[in-house]
Amino acid sequence: MTSVTHGVRVPFVDLRAQYATIRAEIDAAVRAVLEHGSFVLGEDVAEFERTFAAFCGVREAVGVGNGTDALVLALTALGVRTGDEVITAANTFVATAEAIVHAGALPVLVDAVPGTYTIDPARVEQAITPRTRAIIPVHLYGQAAEMDPLLAIARRHGLVVVEDASQAHGATYRGRVVGGLGDAACFSFYPSKNLGAYGDAGAVVTSDADVALRVRTLRDHGGMAHYQHEVVGYNSRMDALQAAVLTVKLRHLEEWNHRRREHARLYSRLLAEVPAVETPVIRGDGAHVFHLYVVALTAGNRDALRTYLSDRGVQTGIHYPAPVHLTGAFRSLGHASGAFPVAEQASRQILSLPMYPELQPDAVAHVVEEVRGFVRGSRA
Ligand SMILES: Cc1ncc(COP(=O)(O)O)c(C=O)c1O
Repeated sequence: MTSVTHGVRVPFVDLRAQYATIRAEIDAAVRAVLEHGSFVLGEDVAEFERTFAAFCGVREAVGVGNGTDALVLALTALGVRTGDEVITAANTFVATAEAIVHAGALPVLVDAVPGTYTIDPARVEQAITPRTRAIIPVHLYGQAAEMDPLLAIARRHGLVVVEDASQAHGATYRGRVVGGLGDAACFSFYPSKNLGAYGDAGAVVTSDADVALRVRTLRDHGGMAHYQHEVVGYNSRMDALQAAVLTVKLRHLEEWNHRRREHARLYSRLLAEVPAVETPVIRGDGAHVFHLYVVALTAGNRDALRTYLSDRGVQTGIHYPAPVHLTGAFRSLGHASGAFPVAEQASRQILSLPMYPELQPDAVAHVVEEVRGFVRGSRA
C-alpha cells in the first residue's frame, strides 16, 4: 500500500499492486499451463471464452490476439468489404480507425457529444451514405455510448453495429451489459484495461453463431482444422497463458469496477469546488466502469497542470492528444482542423487522473490537493 505524503509518487496505473492481491491464483493458473504445455488456443482459451460470453450475456466469445484484430475480424465476419464506409468516433484510440482500414473500408468520422465525449447519434445519422455498412460506437473511458438511438438508426438504414468495448468491460446500458448490445462487440485485454491480460489479447463476442464461426475461422489461418484453409485468414489466436490469467481476473472484475466507481465518486466530490476543472459527465442510464477518470481543464492550462503534477510525482495521461483526423496516419481523410470541434476541444482540455482499483482514498485526496494547489497558484 502507498503511504501518501508530499512527494510520494501516485502512478497512473499500478499492475504490480493488482498482482499482489491475486498472486496465489495467478501463479497456480500460470503453472498449470506451463505443466500441461499447450500454449495456443486449447482448453484454457475455450474456458475463458465460455465464462466471458456468459459475463457479457451473449452466446459466444472468440479469443483473439488483441483488440485491434478483434475489430478487423468482426468487421470482416459481418461482411464489411472494400469500398464500404464504416462510421466511428473522431475521438477514439487510433486502433478503431485502423481496423476499419485493415478490413478494407473507409473510416467515416463523426464528432462527440459534449461532456460525455461518446459518439453523437445525430451526427452518425447525418454521415450515412449509400456506401455505409457499419457503425462502431466506442464505449469511451468506461461509459457506454448512447446505444438505443444508435441501434434505431442502424435498423432504419440496414447497418450492422460493432461495439468497441475495449474500455468498458462490465459497463452497463439500460440494464444490459455492453458486448451484448450490437451485432458483435470487440474487447481489448491490453494489460491496463479493466480486464487486462499479462500481454496482448482480445475477443469478439456475439450471439450470432455464423459470425462467431467466421471469426474462429479467420483468427486461425482461415480454417477450423489443421491445414484446411477455406478462406485467407490471419494468425490472431489467443494464447493459453493469457486466457488462464483472464479467467482468474474475470472473477474479480465486478469488485474492481466497483472500486473504480468509488474512486471516481471521491474524485468528483473533492474536485467539485475546484474552479475550471470539469469532472466527468455521467449520463446515469447505466454503470460507468471508469477505465479512465478524465477531467477537462477549461482555462487553457491542461499541459501546465500535467507538468506540475508530474513534477510532484503524480502521473497522468491524455486520451487522446489528437483526434483521429489530425494524426499523420489519417491526414489523408482530408479533414482540416475544425472539422470535429467537440473532439478537438476535448483533445486540448482533457486530462486522465490516476485510476486503478488498488488506488487508495488518501491517494485520490492527495491528487486533488495537488490539483487545487496548481489552480490556486495559477489564479494568484
Ligand atoms: C477504444 C479502443 N479500441 C481499440 C483498442 C485496441 O486494442 P489493442 O491495443 O488490444 O489492439 C483499444 C486499446 O488500446 C482501445 O482503447
